[in-house]
Amino acid sequence: MEFVRVAKVAEFTPGVSRSVRVVGRHVRVYMDGEGVLRAMENGCRHQGADLSGGRREGSVVVCPRHGWRYDLATGACVGGDGRPLRAYHCRVEGENVLVSLFPVPEGTVAETGRPGAP
Ligand code: FES
Repeated sequence: MEFVRVAKVAEFTPGVSRSVRVVGRHVRVYMDGEGVLRAMENGCRHQGADLSGGRREGSVVVCPRHGWRYDLATGACVGGDGRPLRAYHCRVEGENVLVSLFPVPEGTVAETGRPGAP
């Protein structure tokens, strides 16, 4: 699995997310309350809304437009019949945040990055 550096760890604090580009795709990297980093595609499957304004409910991101909900671990659309978003593996190497070049297979839990982990 190949990864690409997308940001510095210092750009994140718990609860913060940032949009990055991975092979031309819009991906959003999220840091949760425990400092764990996850990466998921950033366009809602319903009508393409930018999820950057979506609120977080634990490991779920809620679309700001009509409320579709996506699980950050797998990209699954939670509690609805919408198609999943693509989840990406996320890693931390030193001070860098890396995201996999390609999304994980549908239904697979993506690897997470944790700053300071061995
Ligand atoms: S655009 Fe996201 S729920 Fe409608």
